Amino acid sequence: MNGDKKRCAPSLAWNEKLSTGHTEIDEQHKGLIQLANDLLETVRAGKGAYLVDPILRRLRVYTRDHFRAEERIMASAGYPELARHAREHAQILGIVEQLNIFNDEGKPIDPDELLCLLREWLINHILGHDLPMASHLRSSRIKNRC
Ligand SMILES: [Fe+2]
Ligand SMILES: [Fe+2]
Repeated sequence: MNGDKKRCAPSLAWNEKLSTGHTEIDEQHKGLIQLANDLLETVRAGKGAYLVDPILRRLRVYTRDHFRAEERIMASAGYPELARHAREHAQILGIVEQLNIFNDEGKPIDPDELLCLLREWLINHILGHDLPMASHLRSSRIKNRC
């Protein structure tokens, strides 16, 4: 039944509500959103694995590098939720690494399903985990200045 299908906006978008106020992290989030949209667009356009796979590989590498950068920043700020946040990163990375865009018959994943997955990993993680981390970074910067 179509009515049961989860509906999302057609692509991901960065907006001020996602801003951490940390330039490096925000630029990386924008890069991740761009790559996720590139992947989505390519799948939606019905492109083959020769075009989809390189984007998926870039998304995996970028995600890993971004998580490492955030964990480095959290560690140097003494963020008390680092272990929990890093566990969440490891979980997301595991899913991104395992993601198959094409099934055994070579049929691509439903783009709407892919969009919902990407939104869950990227946007919900930024809102639920990265923003609280950023607020800690800001308050520790203010404290260190006093
Ligand atoms: Fe992040
Ligand atoms: Fe994060």
